[in-house]
Amino acid sequence: MKQITHSFDYQSFDSASELPSADRELFEKAKSAIAGSYAPYSHYHVGAAVKLANGNVITGSNQENMSFPAGLCAERVAVFAAASNFPDIPVAAIAISAISDDFEVSEPVPPCGMCRQAIVEYEMKFDNKIRIILGGRSGKIFVFDGMGSLLPLAFVEKGLAK
Ligand code: THU
Repeated sequence: MKQITHSFDYQSFDSASELPSADRELFEKAKSAIAGSYAPYSHYHVGAAVKLANGNVITGSNQENMSFPAGLCAERVAVFAAASNFPDIPVAAIAISAISDDFEVSEPVPPCGMCRQAIVEYEMKFDNKIRIILGGRSGKIFVFDGMGSLLPLAFVEKGLAK
């Protein structure tokens, strides 16, 4: 038996104003995308902005449904829209933010497990790491250099890709 430790690095910024300008601009677009959120059940509004390698930015927001599982997170709305409209362009980065009608979101907003797996798919498709920028309405911003940090041992089955 071998004990294996997996560690990862990420950057923490005290506020959005400290971010490199490209990250700050994408993060602002994620915040603006919150306006499109439809969240009458959770009152938690998420925005995501996907930047493609050609510079295009595609945004998405969470869309809820009275039949709760039918809704979709902001990250998947954004990456699926990006992949549908630009199937041959690699995804370079995604920024995510959220607000709540009921409380202050003052921590970075990490994508849920299903969204992590969805984002990993596009890293694999283009063999290209995706930069991830996470922040709330206030507070720190975290930046990750690829999904390997957020989803170690992601489900990857090469046999299915043949
Ligand atoms: N949500 C997202 O949009 N992204 C996440 O990564 C986690 C959660 C949405 C789903 C639901 O509409 C609301 O936030 C509360 O869970």
